[in-house]
Amino acid sequence: MGNEHLWEEIRPTARGMSEHFEDFGLSIDDLRGKKILDIGSGLNQLANELKEDNLDITSLDPLYALSAEEREALYEDYEDGSEELQKLLHQLKSENRSSKLVAGRSDALPFANDSFDLIISHYGSPFYAEDAEKVTQFFSELNRVLRSGGEARIYPTWLRNSDIKKSAAVKKCLKDLEEGGFHIEQIGSSWMLKKS
Ligand SMILES: C[S@@+](CC[C@H](N)C(=O)[O-])C[C@H]1O[C@@H](n2cnc3c(N)ncnc32)[C@H](O)[C@@H]1O
Repeated sequence: MGNEHLWEEIRPTARGMSEHFEDFGLSIDDLRGKKILDIGSGLNQLANELKEDNLDITSLDPLYALSAEEREALYEDYEDGSEELQKLLHQLKSENRSSKLVAGRSDALPFANDSFDLIISHYGSPFYAEDAEKVTQFFSELNRVLRSGGEARIYPTWLRNSDIKKSAAVKKCLKDLEEGGFHIEQIGSSWMLKKS
């Protein structure tokens, strides 16, 4: 299949574990024993770097709906870090990769209610949301699949191609979640959303 209608293709970058931890203000201990969802996980570099730690990570990205050949063709002309890119692309198709790869979009999460203890999205959603409706659907889906007592971490707090409607949608979603019992804090340039 191709990518025509699935999503606006965004080239994943090779940001690793330390950048994720620093941007979220998290450490490995915050991940242990949790069922984790990484939304917009791209080349899956976070789970790959943590593969010796036996964590329970589900990596979600529309990219995984493409065949290995289609993915490789997509990144053929990738300018930087091509050796690293090849390694990551190879790991995506390897059987003993570190996490479950699920093809899907953040605004229609293919998971049951209350599935995860920790949801992270690093330069994923709502950062790349196409419009205000997608922003709203993303936060509603996040709330649905996050367990009580669980938390979500989102980086960054700003949007790519921000417009008034999308920014207003983020504000309204955060306010609605807060009114629904979430504790929300800004940590550096990330959001921490804790579900009561
Ligand atoms: C810049 S990459 C970020 C990869 C990784 N999280 C990181 O921080 O390096 C953005 C990823 O978001 C994915 N993406 C774009 N739209 C999405 C959506 N609606 N739902 C889930 N993932 C999406 C893209 O396919 C891409 O892999």
